Amino acid sequence: MSIKFSQLSNISTSATVAINTLANKKRQAGKRVYNLSAGEPMIVTPEVIIEAGEKAMRDGQTKYPPSTGIAPLRLAASEWMNKNYYTHYDIDHTLVTCGGKFGLYLLLQALVESDTEVLIPAPYWVSYPSMVQLFGGTPITVNTSESDGWKIEVADLEKLFTPKTKILIFNNGSNPTGVLYSREELEKILTWCSKKNIIAISDEVYSGLVYDGGKYISCASFGNLSNNVIVVHSCSKNFAMTGWRVGFVFAPAEIIRVLATLQSQSITNTSSISQWAALSALQNAETIIPQIRTEMQKRRDTLVEVRQKLFGGNLPSPASALYAFWPINSFGVNDTDSVRFCEKVLKEGNVAMVPGAPFGKEGYVRISFGETKKELTEAMEALRRYL
Ligand SMILES: Cc1ncc(COP(=O)(O)O)c(C=O)c1O
Repeated sequence: MSIKFSQLSNISTSATVAINTLANKKRQAGKRVYNLSAGEPMIVTPEVIIEAGEKAMRDGQTKYPPSTGIAPLRLAASEWMNKNYYTHYDIDHTLVTCGGKFGLYLLLQALVESDTEVLIPAPYWVSYPSMVQLFGGTPITVNTSESDGWKIEVADLEKLFTPKTKILIFNNGSNPTGVLYSREELEKILTWCSKKNIIAISDEVYSGLVYDGGKYISCASFGNLSNNVIVVHSCSKNFAMTGWRVGFVFAPAEIIRVLATLQSQSITNTSSISQWAALSALQNAETIIPQIRTEMQKRRDTLVEVRQKLFGGNLPSPASALYAFWPINSFGVNDTDSVRFCEKVLKEGNVAMVPGAPFGKEGYVRISFGETKKELTEAMEALRRYL
């Protein structure tokens, strides 16, 4: 059969998914693969959440829920944001989606037109540019550097601004760098967005995973400066619920109505069972999030210490999220081609890491500390042995 695929199907596979697939193939072939590529906290979803999911099934919550999400979850999510991040959302500002990823997808589907330019600070989460392209827009990379702490400044945005610039995708609590912005830094960026009438899509999915007593500031907590802010959120990372697929969009009610229509014509909704489980997650957030955060901080510290012991040099600990973004030369290797390096290390050394190139930064690798301390230690030792 000869199939003519649409233009859109040319989009490349997510690099993180590609490495995972290769690692899984090796595992299936009986190889011990050391995993430093997980984009998730490798812990079991807390019991109280699982119980709520189980109960939902037994109570017959197994029919189509509304396309906006079940009302108690929308209410709980908006209240959780208001209480923890000083926002002003209510149920009409809240959409339940199939993970934060689909929330972002719906937003870009609703907002991007063929002449839209979207500013994306790099290193970025791999899916941002591809999704913008999927809807015919142009991703505009805002480069940052390790020496500047991977942070953008208004001057960088100003240089790239054109009359076609409509959106900034901003990921505070960053995948892959773990960078965390202060209130003052955010205020400057949001003031610029407000002046230029730019929509700031703020990806806050790692808001609970902030270490060393740091504070997460939501871009939606700046009064009038937040009028152009839309927040993408998720239960995946904060509650160890990646497989349950529950995320949120917080936005003005008119945007939520459009997204709900798009959702109703695509996936209809995310699983009703997962939504009832997510309600329990939010109701127990004050216990669950600190537990996951404490465990992830310990894992981060293990990764940093083991790297230092095995490879020397002093690299800063990531302030948030689940990843260290380190230069290849910090492992004593002089290779600037991150894809080649990661493929070789996986094929020959059985250690899975994600190359920096698809995150928009060559010469670096993303190493996840979502795994157990034992796995992290063994993986770094295997990497040392191989190199
Ligand atoms: C920065 C960032 N945003 C959004 C997501 C989407 O997560 P989910 O769809 O599981 O909520 C991820 C997942 O890796 C991420 O790293």
